[in-house]
Amino acid sequence: MIYRIRMVVKIGIVGSGWASHMHVRCLKENPKAEVVALADVVRSKGLSFAKAYGIPKFYESPERLFKDPEVEAVYIASPPKFHVVQAIAALKSGKHVFSEKPPAISLEEAEKLVKAVEKAGLIYQVGFNRRFWPVYKRLKELVDSKRLRPFVVDIKMVRGEMERPPWTKVREVAGGFLYDSVIHMLDLSRWLVGEPKTVRCLARRNIYPHPDGFVIMMEFSNEERTILSITSAGHASWVYPFERVEVYGDHCSAITEESLRLTFAWGKEDIPNVEVHQFTKLPEHVAWGFKEEDDLFVEAVDKGVAPPVTVEDAYKAVKLVEACYTSAEKNGEPIEITR
Ligand SMILES: NC(=O)c1ccc[n+]([C@@H]2O[C@H](COP(=O)([O-])OP(=O)(O)OC[C@H]3O[C@@H](n4cnc5c(N)ncnc54)[C@H](O)[C@@H]3O)[C@@H](O)[C@H]2O)c1
Repeated sequence: MIYRIRMVVKIGIVGSGWASHMHVRCLKENPKAEVVALADVVRSKGLSFAKAYGIPKFYESPERLFKDPEVEAVYIASPPKFHVVQAIAALKSGKHVFSEKPPAISLEEAEKLVKAVEKAGLIYQVGFNRRFWPVYKRLKELVDSKRLRPFVVDIKMVRGEMERPPWTKVREVAGGFLYDSVIHMLDLSRWLVGEPKTVRCLARRNIYPHPDGFVIMMEFSNEERTILSITSAGHASWVYPFERVEVYGDHCSAITEESLRLTFAWGKEDIPNVEVHQFTKLPEHVAWGFKEEDDLFVEAVDKGVAPPVTVEDAYKAVKLVEACYTSAEKNGEPIEITR
């Protein structure tokens, strides 16, 4: 009998923007991975990216990369409107897929994606990297260990502008601000406290051509019957805090500051007990979870095990985005989240 021994997982990358820089940096540090090809519709950009990282093959068409027999898995880091079309084309060519977020920009697209992943029987992982931020992993440990029961959660997440990259403000390309940014926090909420029961959302169009300011409220059916809010705007200017999560338990609070710090305090005294968890010395690709999500994707392909963030997670996040937009259209009416 002949056994196929794989030395490394050979990877093709689609897109040569900021996200691809992060992923290629991580993959270069993984001895089990090798980036063998890159595709970008902008030839000059793609070629200089490939040269900078020593990627041997360049394609101007992602479809040609998907047909490359050397490539076993692909990273899709093009603008959002292309994610589902490219993921399905890659799966049909027999490639495992890592897709940057958002996984899709409509429920119809997400449904097609789920079907394609199920039919292909290949690995699909979506880039909800907040699950791998060490600061949020520590927060989840507190919740899972029941030291911190998440009765009330308050999340703030903003973007300074929606102009870099320029497609961010174009709804037809990015899907809208909830798909572009807030989807991370919707996924984080599910991951931290479970499945929401209802979603309410108020939205305003302030600066950009589509809604760019949101207040979301969710109720959960977990043991704590968590109530959670997310406040978000796409025009905040780049001033800290960009992202902050506060969880209030039984006379205790956990507060995160960016990817840098978690403060956990408990007790009823004027001076509470305080634990501070610092992540300030981690390099960005580790602090922002890219390293671990990429290592786990490579491991899933290499060992044939389930990826840590699945197509079901992708679908459920899209469903929450759509529930928020529907509620916003009905001026904050609660939308029930069905399984
Ligand atoms: N997980 C995160 O924290 C995170 C952070 C940044 C970006 N992202 C996501 O990564 C994706 C890429 O974002 P970015 O900031 O790198 O964008 P970018 O605009 O900097 O890069 C996109 C690249 O895709 C190329 N491209 C455009 N159309 C294409 C097509 N049809 N096929 C192939 N390539 C095409 C562009 O030439 C460019 O090189 C987006 O979906 C974004 O939401 C995720």
